[in-house]
Amino acid sequence: MAIIIKNGTVVSPTQSIMQDIRIEGEKIAQVGESLPVTAEDTVYDARGNLIFPGFIDAHTHMDMDNGKIVTADDFASGGRAAIAGGTTLLIDFATQEKGHLMGEAFYQWMAKAEQKCSCDYAFHMAIIDWNEETRQELANMFRIGVSSFKVYLAYDNLRINDRELYELLCDMKKLGGIVGVHCENGDLVNELVAEQLAAGNTSPAAHPVSRPAEVEAEAISRLLYIAKLADCPVHIVHLSTKLGLEEIRKARSNGQTVYVETCPQYLLMDDHVYSQPDFEGAKYVCSPPIRKKEDQEALWEGIINGEIQTVATDHCSYNFHGQKDLGIDDFSKIPNGLPGIEHRPELIYTYGVKTGRITQEKMCEILASNNAKIFGCYPQKGVIAPGSDADIVIWQDCREPITAAAQHQNVDYTPYEGIEILGKPKHVFLRGQEVFRDGKLLQPELGIYINREPGGL
Ligand code: URP
Ligand code: ZN
Ligand code: ZN
Repeated sequence: MAIIIKNGTVVSPTQSIMQDIRIEGEKIAQVGESLPVTAEDTVYDARGNLIFPGFIDAHTHMDMDNGKIVTADDFASGGRAAIAGGTTLLIDFATQEKGHLMGEAFYQWMAKAEQKCSCDYAFHMAIIDWNEETRQELANMFRIGVSSFKVYLAYDNLRINDRELYELLCDMKKLGGIVGVHCENGDLVNELVAEQLAAGNTSPAAHPVSRPAEVEAEAISRLLYIAKLADCPVHIVHLSTKLGLEEIRKARSNGQTVYVETCPQYLLMDDHVYSQPDFEGAKYVCSPPIRKKEDQEALWEGIINGEIQTVATDHCSYNFHGQKDLGIDDFSKIPNGLPGIEHRPELIYTYGVKTGRITQEKMCEILASNNAKIFGCYPQKGVIAPGSDADIVIWQDCREPITAAAQHQNVDYTPYEGIEILGKPKHVFLRGQEVFRDGKLLQPELGIYINREPGGL
């Protein structure tokens, strides 16, 4: 008794071909032309549809508690939203607390996600407290399936210093994992925020002014010199600027391995969003901030020419009413982050594939395959091939607006309100189970934890 998906166009990073897929249990058993069907098989006719491997969002913050407020989405609502958009694996950030072990953070995050999440999940480990004990713990992280780490160069309560970064990268070179870095110069941010407030600029319009492109580019440049000294590859999360991309180019021309992620908000919007009246600009306050048109164009170019390997969401949702409005009198108190896990594939399809900017193969690469490779779960995830998990999205064309009213994300707005999307999932399979069909979640909470190995491209 198998599931057979017939006549769809199976997309990979290198080609799209009409093929059938045979699913047995949790795995893809066969991919090929005119696969035989028996009376016991369940058949889906995907003629006219693209078929993608389940998408992977490698940058989310679900159920994140900063000590004052908790994100609007937890793993339950975030996982449902993921599946509704065709994302079958999310990689969130288990975050170490000062004075605590990374192992404690891992089990805290497991408890947040277990038996609640509708898509599969894994964790990067965010290192907040770099000390001898943390250092000793690193190898253990790999034993529990954590092969990627994250550090912040901004946010006073989270950031590590340059010596700590260097030591971490030296250790990572030996262990073979990858460190993702939030690149903004924290000292400069603090100073520029203070300047804005002193000048009486308290509205969301001051947010991008307090975190200009130079703040990102300086941090990227510093990271890449430190990574060069440590002789270790690095991953730059949420790249937002042309200036930052230029620093990456320089390092690569010297032979360094640098993986780069950007997000839909940096590809689709520009900093005019912050000038909206009635505090509406707060809906777009994230760090780094949304940039200028020329940055947008440089990032699309970077995707097209392979300089940017992945598009993730940095999904970090806060309600407009009751959370974002904590900063009504002071933009620096607006909780940073945007929702997006539900709409990333639809947005990239609409603004990337349908405009002719990128191919559907490139969409597969940046939303699924590269994420699985870089973060060490390929070919279990990120590809439609015999032996891989049967995480499959049957994709259909459509023409409909994104609305907060219709979303599965548990947040009172979407930054993409009213945008007309031209494609969306029709069926989503998670490890062989049909979990979503025609707008309806069929089976929630089937997600499991995915162990990962050191990865790379
Ligand atoms: O504004 C953002 N991006 N919030 C989430 C945390 C981070 O910096 O990635
Ligand atoms: Zn960040
Ligand atoms: Zn983030």
